Amino acid sequence: MKASGCILSFFFVFSSISSLSVALTDAEASFLARRQLLTLPEGGDLPENYENGVEPNLKFPNPRLRRAYIALQAWKKSMYSDPLKTTANWVGPDVCKYTGVFCEKALDDPNIDVVASIDLNGADIAGFLPAELGLLHEVAVFHINSNRFCGIVPQSFCQLSLLHEFDISNNRFVGEFPKVVHCLPALRYLDIRYNDFEGCLPPELFNKDLDALFLNNNRFRCNIPETIGNSNVSVLVIANNNFEGCIPSSIGKMRNLNELIFSNNKLGGCVPPELFQISNVTVLDISSNTFSGILSKSFKIENVEEFSLANNNLTGTSHSPTTSSTALPKNACQPRGRTW
Ligand SMILES: *[C@@H]1O[C@H](CO)[C@@H](O)[C@H](O)[C@H]1NC(C)=O
Ligand SMILES: *[C@@H]1O[C@H](CO)[C@@H](O)[C@H](O)[C@H]1NC(C)=O
Ligand SMILES: *[C@@H]1O[C@H](CO)[C@@H](O)[C@H](O)[C@H]1NC(C)=O
Repeated sequence: MKASGCILSFFFVFSSISSLSVALTDAEASFLARRQLLTLPEGGDLPENYENGVEPNLKFPNPRLRRAYIALQAWKKSMYSDPLKTTANWVGPDVCKYTGVFCEKALDDPNIDVVASIDLNGADIAGFLPAELGLLHEVAVFHINSNRFCGIVPQSFCQLSLLHEFDISNNRFVGEFPKVVHCLPALRYLDIRYNDFEGCLPPELFNKDLDALFLNNNRFRCNIPETIGNSNVSVLVIANNNFEGCIPSSIGKMRNLNELIFSNNKLGGCVPPELFQISNVTVLDISSNTFSGILSKSFKIENVEEFSLANNNLTGTSHSPTTSSTALPKNACQPRGRTW
């Protein structure tokens, strides 16, 4: 009996995330990434002379807005195409009036305004992130989804100590998992889906106090780190990558998990019973992987509203073991699989 006939009732989970088309050729993207490398100092830290070039006659309400001006002008220079003219009004010292730039009272000084958030979602801008963006020290929200930003996230982003939401999804970022994530103490929401990130996930990622983590539609591979059980995220989506190996049994320790979407990877071996011990999960999708083994009738998945195991090699009863353990891949988390 295949998984679809087993006692669990489940249905397919269709992700609500739609892939937006981004019209930037690979050649253009790598051109922009090379331009970024040329401008970035070693490691992507801020250049020492970043204050050069601010017109001396410009008057700013406070030094922090002057710093923000330097950052935003450097960014505007790093944009090669702005078809919707979103940044057309990024001119002059009044940065709080720039489209997509939002100011608030400073947390440590209610008498002054500072740039508190950036929202350029859907602007279709082609360009890269210059090191000067690290001057936006007071930014709590940085949303640039659905643009054509290329290259990497510069090391200078480590200076954004208030950054709470970082959404760079649906762009053309490349390279390893962005290291700057580890040095952002206030980060709670991380969305890097629909980019070209590759390589492994750093184990420290799951030791960060995040609420939501979207990594889907990249080119990540390797095993899921054992540290996953430390994470307090309520949403974890790693679908449509090349993750391989088992799901670590530590997953049973994820205390706040609500939605887990692991579909369309190369995960395999057995499904750890701990996966079904997570309380309060409402969406659980491990479809289109290479899981094998037998699912026991004893699984309790009381709160699960959407559940998909489809397109694996799972069998659905504990009474007639039909999958031999020799069919399991070498790295399978046996012998647990045989006891189901
Ligand atoms: C998860 O929450 C618990 C309880 O609040 C806390 O002790 C732990 O440090 C948190 N873990 C992470 C990775 O943030
Ligand atoms: C699960 O949900 C119930 C009711 O919504 C809540 O009382 C309980 O604290 C939750 N458990 C965990 C581990 O989050
Ligand atoms: C299921 O197992 C069969 C035979 O071992 C194999 O050919 C097939 O590719 C497997 N399918 C998946 C989705 O792993």
